Amino acid sequence: MKILVLNGVNLALTGRRERGVYGSETLEEINKAVAAYAKARGAETAFFQSDLEGELVRAIHGAQGMYDGIIFNAGAFTHYSYALRDAIAAVEVPVVEVHMSNVHAREEFRRNSVLTPVCRGEVLGFGKNSYILALESFLL
Ligand code: DQA
Repeated sequence: MKILVLNGVNLALTGRRERGVYGSETLEEINKAVAAYAKARGAETAFFQSDLEGELVRAIHGAQGMYDGIIFNAGAFTHYSYALRDAIAAVEVPVVEVHMSNVHAREEFRRNSVLTPVCRGEVLGFGKNSYILALESFLL
């Protein structure tokens, strides 16, 4: 099982931005924990982060035939990127949407995701464990 973990806009600052919301672990530390968990469960992981919508679109296109699933935290793109929504719909690789925070308990604009309808499912509100739980959903 090969899983691509994709992180979008602003997520490179995880651990340094809004620590009360996203915690103090860096994205690198979170990725390491996810990779270790995956390895222990017999899965392989690859990681990519970009602040650029087009790079994320390309990463999703490139996952076709290469990965069994994508774990995707698109950051704020979640709430308005029809380009990412269409990219997810364009590939056969299943995508699980992830958010570290409980987006429903925050500002109104975070309650809507344009990605959820084309994702296999969604995990949110569990901090870094949102990624682990999303990974586990592919392994069940
Ligand atoms: C986020 C939630 C988004 O609303 C926000 O724009 C982010 C991070 C999360 O992981 O909780 O950048 O996706």
